[in-house]
Amino acid sequence: MIINNIEFKKTEDNSVGLFDKNVNDILHSNTGALKEAYDKFVIPCRLKELSQIKSSINILDICYGVGYNTKAALNSISDCKINIDALEINKELIYLSPFIYDNIECIELKIFIIEQILNNYELRDEFLNYILKIKEDGEREFFCPFIRQFKEAILNDGYINYPEDIKNRFLHNIYYNYISSNNKINSKSNKYNKCTIDFHVDDARASVNKLNKIYDVVFLDAYSPQIDPTLWTIDFLSLIKDKMNKYSILVSYSKSTPFRSALIKLGFFVGKTYIDNIDMGTVASLTANNIQNNLNNYDLGLLNTRSSIPYKDPHLNLSAKEIIYNRKIESDNSNLQSHTSFLKSYLK
Ligand SMILES: C[S@@+](CC[C@H](N)C(=O)[O-])C[C@H]1O[C@@H](n2cnc3c(N)ncnc32)[C@H](O)[C@@H]1O
Repeated sequence: MIINNIEFKKTEDNSVGLFDKNVNDILHSNTGALKEAYDKFVIPCRLKELSQIKSSINILDICYGVGYNTKAALNSISDCKINIDALEINKELIYLSPFIYDNIECIELKIFIIEQILNNYELRDEFLNYILKIKEDGEREFFCPFIRQFKEAILNDGYINYPEDIKNRFLHNIYYNYISSNNKINSKSNKYNKCTIDFHVDDARASVNKLNKIYDVVFLDAYSPQIDPTLWTIDFLSLIKDKMNKYSILVSYSKSTPFRSALIKLGFFVGKTYIDNIDMGTVASLTANNIQNNLNNYDLGLLNTRSSIPYKDPHLNLSAKEIIYNRKIESDNSNLQSHTSFLKSYLK
């Protein structure tokens, strides 16, 4: 199972962050998985303000993972209907997300459980009894196998023999669903009732062609472009552009030059996102007024160097390695200034 290669750890804001050993990349920042979702996605796209002027908002969450960006988005909106399309290649990660219905009602117990686990203590009988009482929700078949698996394992083998990865998945979900302070605030409202989430479990390059909405907000949270440029190519971004209108906003944590350059070549206005004066990521829109912080001279200079050569995937079928290799060949044959030579002249 792919999930076996996922490691869990507590991040600095106390939310659980994941690391993918297959790709050798983090899914969430060590400074805070949930904090990152607000700082790099939800705040820069001004979702809160948008929800005050619109009665309905469409969000495209590309690389949903365990859903931190969607969760932060729902926590930020006021009384507004939200339709989310979540694109994710790894179904098992979706099982971990907070929208799994587990029907455990005692929040204190959940806090107790997670604290025990985070401190590596054995679980007590109290927890096991609760697990056995969990009801299955027949209408949400997609999510149920996970809960069922967990119950069966307890009934058949007892908790102690239960595989570590499944235990972690379950506990992550409990933690994420009930313990995050932002979620506690949210659980008092009925926002989730006004939201629809459609999961598209496939390579986002295939899923995006099946979407027939126009999105107000697009979150692009793929693995870093240097590691896996598949979802940062000019060709994929062009498909995303087709799902946006003049006022839509695309946000990402990435500051990568080939990504920004691809957006500009596609006709987007591109800017930076800041939190506490720290340069955090990128925002793009087809309306200049949507850009609050323009790129600076350094960023603009980079756009005239070889670093600006976009990743390409014309038929949307290349592997990450092929995309990286093709770009390297293009860069080696390019007459553009090299990154190093630009840096030298810039620093002078
Ligand atoms: C940096 S993580 C995103 C974290 C996520 N937003 C969250 O809140 O947990 C990148 C995610 O992209 C997914 N992914 C990687 N390649 C993909 C592809 N081609 N199509 C769809 N999802 C992909 C990975 O499975 C992983 O969950």
